[in-house]
Amino acid sequence: MNKNYLTTKLQPFGTSVFAEMTKMAVDNNAINLSQGFPDFDGPEFIKEAACEAIKAGHNQYANTFGVPALRKAISEKYKKFYGLSYNPDTEISILAGATEAIFTTIISIINAGDEVIILEPYYDSYPVAVTMAGGICRYLTLEFPDFKVDFEKLEALVTKKTRMIIINTPHNPSGKVFTRSELEALAKIAIKHDLIVMSDEVYEHITFDGVKHIPTATIDGMFDRTITISSTGKTFSMTGWKIGTVCAPASMCAAVRTAHQYVIFAVATPFQHAMIKGFEAPDSFYRELIEFYTAKRDMMAKSLTQQGFDIVMPKGSYFIMADFTKFGFTNDVEFCKYLTSQIKVAAIPPTSFYFNKKYGEKLVRFAFCKKEETLAAAADRLKNLKAK
Ligand SMILES: Cc1ncc(COP(=O)(O)O)c(C=O)c1O
Repeated sequence: MNKNYLTTKLQPFGTSVFAEMTKMAVDNNAINLSQGFPDFDGPEFIKEAACEAIKAGHNQYANTFGVPALRKAISEKYKKFYGLSYNPDTEISILAGATEAIFTTIISIINAGDEVIILEPYYDSYPVAVTMAGGICRYLTLEFPDFKVDFEKLEALVTKKTRMIIINTPHNPSGKVFTRSELEALAKIAIKHDLIVMSDEVYEHITFDGVKHIPTATIDGMFDRTITISSTGKTFSMTGWKIGTVCAPASMCAAVRTAHQYVIFAVATPFQHAMIKGFEAPDSFYRELIEFYTAKRDMMAKSLTQQGFDIVMPKGSYFIMADFTKFGFTNDVEFCKYLTSQIKVAAIPPTSFYFNKKYGEKLVRFAFCKKEETLAAAADRLKNLKAK
C-alpha cells in the first residue's frame, strides 16, 4: 500500500532542498558547501556556559516566552546596536530557531485568504508557512546580478487582501544588504497600504566592506508594523542549538506567543542560559566575526572567479550566488548533481528559492561558512571543473 498521507496543501513542497543536497553530499563523499551551517564550533565560552547551565540544574521547561535574563540581554543588544527599545517582558520572545519564528509569526498573523508578498529568491520556509496558514503568496523577483527591488512592481502587487511583506536582509542567497533608501521605499508602501513587514535579519552581524545592517524597524514609521526575526545560530555559529528571536510591538508579539505556546511551548533551557553569555560578548567579538567571514568570502570568491563562474560579491550573509553557464549547463539541478557526484563539491540549486523558476536556473549557491581547509580543498576540486 503506497498511500499519500500528506495534505493537499503541502503536496507541492516535498523534501527540503537542504536535506536532499546534504544527503547527496554524504553519499558522494563531497565537500558540503550546500547547507548554511558552519563546519566549526561556536565560541568555547558559550559551550562552557551550556555545560555549566546543565550542571547548575537548568534542565526543566523554560519560561514559554524565553528565559527572562536572555530576553533582557537581547533587549540590551537591540538598544546598543540599533537604538531600538524592546520591552523584554512583552516585546521579545525566544523561539526554536528563526525557522520556528518565521512559521509561528506567519501562522499567528496570517488569516486564510490573506496575501503575503515574498521577494524571491527567498528562504524556502516562507511560502510553506504562508500556505500552511491558508494565505496566498505573491512573488516579486529580484534578478541576478544586482538583485534590485523594483518598488513600482512591488506596489503593483498590493491588493485589498495584502497583509504582509516578507523581507530578508542581509539576504540569503544573494548576499544583498538592503540600503536605507530601499528600506525607506519599502516603508512608504507598507505605511500607505497599512501592511505588516516580517523582516528576517538572521545575518545581521555578517556584513562586509564596511556595509552596515539596517534593521527595518529603525526606519521612520516602521517600528509599529515590523516583526524582526533573528537567530543566535548565525551570530554565534551554533545552528544546532536552534535559538531564534522575535522582536515586535507588544500586540504582535502577543499573537506570536499564543501560537508558540501550543507548537513548541519552550526552547531548550540550558542553551538559553548559555546564550546570555553570548550576548555579553564584547564589541571585539562582532568585529572579529566580520573579519573572520570576510577572509572566507574572499577565498571562495577568488576560487569561483578563477574557475570561470560569474559571481556577485556578497555584502552580507555567508553565501555566494554564481552563474555557471560558461560550463555549458543550462539547468541548476543538473549542474549541482554533476558538481556533487563528479567534482565532489556540493552546492545548492537555487530554483528551490524561486516560484518563477527561470530566474534561478542558471545559478548556483555556495555556502562559505566553512573552515579555511574546507574551502581550500573545495577550491582544489573545483579546478577539475571543465566546460561540457
Ligand atoms: C534567511 C534565513 N532565515 C532563517 C533561517 C533559519 O534560521 P535557524 O537556523 O535559526 O532556524 C536561515 C537559515 O539558514 C536563513 O538563511
